[in-house]
Amino acid sequence: MSNNYSKHTLLKSPTLFSNAEQASLYTAKQIAELILEKQKQGLPAVLGLATGNTPKKVYKELIRLHQYEGLSFHNVVSFNLDEYYPIGSENDQSYTYFMNQNLFSYIDIQPKNIHVPHTDSSPDQITQYCLDYESKIAGFGGIDLQLLGIGRNGHIGFNEPGSSFDSTTRLVNLDSITREDAITDFGTLNKVPHQAISIGIHTIIQAKKILLLALGERKSEIINEAINGEISIQVPASILQTMPQVEYVLDNEAARLI
Ligand code: PGA
Repeated sequence: MSNNYSKHTLLKSPTLFSNAEQASLYTAKQIAELILEKQKQGLPAVLGLATGNTPKKVYKELIRLHQYEGLSFHNVVSFNLDEYYPIGSENDQSYTYFMNQNLFSYIDIQPKNIHVPHTDSSPDQITQYCLDYESKIAGFGGIDLQLLGIGRNGHIGFNEPGSSFDSTTRLVNLDSITREDAITDFGTLNKVPHQAISIGIHTIIQAKKILLLALGERKSEIINEAINGEISIQVPASILQTMPQVEYVLDNEAARLI
């Protein structure tokens, strides 16, 4: 599939900030504005949410907006990108735990509107579970705003290098770089799961707006490749070059090579 694409002229220049704090505040503001706009229209705001270090300050700012500036999340429906497989949701390395700790416990989102892939399905139930996750997203009319980080291997969600641009929610094998980067959370490599459920690249690029947030020097090489390199399934984020609804939000360190 990579042969069908060539380098694409970026449709919109990256939005640059002098530091991670400013980039995160900007991102949180975009999310808050969407929520308020949808409230005015009496509609749900369907958010695609990410985990990892990158969105933590965004979530902190959203919590502040809720606690001190009256931002309500009552109309928010959320779908998380991914979850390790297998992992119990009570495990403190699970993304369910992460989302509760970093956002959901502190805001007024309705529990019934929260969706994080659950990975307690048995292997023979996974395919149906993934189809149902896709159907739920479609049932809400798709994702209004997808927040993305990027892995050092170019993954978005857990769509690892080699993932088809047509992929939808499914069980995936984790790449060695992804597993290495997860050691800080799990303690040792042998504790890091080998698999995960991830929404697909096709699912992601259907979102009406996509904010790809990249912070820090360690993302500078892959951000340059994703933005300026060839479009290739070896760098899953590179497909975003062709998407008019994508905005890259970068701090100076992540933008160093672009
Ligand atoms: P990070 O991970 O935010 O922890 O760097 C991003 C990702 O892997 O998508």
